[in-house]
Amino acid sequence: MLYISLSGNTKYFISRLTTYFEKERHVRVSSINVKEHREFTTLDQPFVTFLPAFLKGGNGVNNGYTEILTTILGDYLAYEGNYQHCYGIIGSGNRNFNKQFALTAKQYAKRFDFPYITDFELRGTAHDIPRIADAILTYRNQFCFQTTKE
Ligand SMILES: Cc1cc2nc3c(=O)[nH]c(=O)nc-3n(C[C@H](O)[C@H](O)[C@H](O)COP(=O)(O)O)c2cc1C
Repeated sequence: MLYISLSGNTKYFISRLTTYFEKERHVRVSSINVKEHREFTTLDQPFVTFLPAFLKGGNGVNNGYTEILTTILGDYLAYEGNYQHCYGIIGSGNRNFNKQFALTAKQYAKRFDFPYITDFELRGTAHDIPRIADAILTYRNQFCFQTTKE
């Protein structure tokens, strides 16, 4: 799982999700927080990306599309074609931002042409954990199946 977390919400969500995967699904996962690993590496195994929205002002309708603070994650995905192994993105944010809620992840899905899987708010809820775990496994299986078929 590749992600960026600036104020810790996404990091907290990822740590709960990791524990859930290991304890409830017997699946081992590893993750990279781009904020803490600024040296890019080539990713050649399928992965999912998590991206909280940090946009510059606006309302997401007439303006407010400009990503700030998280652009390093886009650079990481672009590096050596890493995005080609990403089977989808999960957005997050704060619903107070209305139309801008989780918008950056939607922008990345278009830019890199991978699926927008789903989203959650802030640190997520207890319901979000199994829901997002299921979604990840579904998209991962689809991606791996397609890759093997080609
Ligand atoms: C300067 C700033 C801009 C933000 N812009 C948005 C936004 O456009 N849309 C949104 O849904 N959330 C926005 N948020 C909320 C964050 O996405 C939210 O707090 C998220 O959980 C932060 O994740 P992190 O703690 O892992 O960094 C913004 C927060 C800050 C501080």
